[in-house]
Amino acid sequence: MYRVVKIEEIIDEAKDIKTFKFRDSSSPLPGQFYMVWLPGIDEFPMSISHIGVMKGFTVKKIGAGTSAMHALNPGDKLWIRGPYGRGFEIVDGTALVVGGGSGMATLAPLIESLPEPDVIIAARTADELLFTNRFKNANVHLATDDGSAGFKGFATQLAAKMLDEKKYEMIYTCGPEPMLLGMVELARRYDVKIQASLERLMKCGIGICDSCSINGYRVCVDGPVFSEELFSMDELGRVRRGPSGKKM
Ligand SMILES: Cc1cc2nc3c(=O)[nH]c(=O)nc-3n(C[C@H](O)[C@H](O)[C@H](O)COP(=O)(O)OP(=O)(O)OC[C@H]3O[C@@H](n4cnc5c(N)ncnc54)[C@H](O)[C@@H]3O)c2cc1C
Ligand code: FES
Repeated sequence: MYRVVKIEEIIDEAKDIKTFKFRDSSSPLPGQFYMVWLPGIDEFPMSISHIGVMKGFTVKKIGAGTSAMHALNPGDKLWIRGPYGRGFEIVDGTALVVGGGSGMATLAPLIESLPEPDVIIAARTADELLFTNRFKNANVHLATDDGSAGFKGFATQLAAKMLDEKKYEMIYTCGPEPMLLGMVELARRYDVKIQASLERLMKCGIGICDSCSINGYRVCVDGPVFSEELFSMDELGRVRRGPSGKKM
């Protein structure tokens, strides 16, 4: 079930974010993910951030598993299984892609598959922005909460300005959940279709354990990319706050 791959290159991308390049013969779609196992430490889901013969995971250091991954060196091994899940559906027409923080890892192969998307790369500060020089085919706009690079403010505020000025066919987004909910509201207000990639804690990654379930859907097999037709994004906000209205 697992394939052992050798890390060939490690790239420092941004604060606490590294890309791990490896060779693997699988054929993922943009938005799909793999389960990455570090024996004796942890197994966790990672989106594919680079598609091709040389593939990549772009990993933000969060806890034990991702910290252990950050301590690896070229030549070290990863145990992987996948690709899993429902990726982005690429549709014709104008596209606005909005990525917050490490959510850009999930969106990067999608952006490279679109003809000339408008892209917002957002983070709290300039040193957390990911892939600012990667996309030759896209019109890239930066946004930081503190104004240290690009637009000063939230990704959603910049997105609203862009939606005022141009009609888009599809919004694609991945990032912190308040940002996703804000983008869903904007999609409704401006009558644009939206696809959003969600994150939940995952154990099996293949629809068995129920650890990723939300609202009768399992994020690992029904997502991680959801469109509004498949999944009411209003419910997402309610579930995150819990039945009593308290934040979970
Ligand atoms: C489909 C999918 C794709 C992902 N792709 C990427 C990616 O490309 N790059 C990247 O850096 N990260 C990605 N993640 C998130 C990544 O899986 C977690 O950061 C990782 O599992 C954390 O493991 P850890 O052992 O370092 O931290 P842990 O010690 O397991 O967790 C640290 C803290 O983060 C919380 N946490 C961990 N995972 C999640 C989660 N999925 N949702 C909400 N809270 C969580 C924990 O509750 C805990 O509070 C993805 C997650 C999913 C579900
Ligand atoms: S991670 Fe086990 S059902 Fe989704």
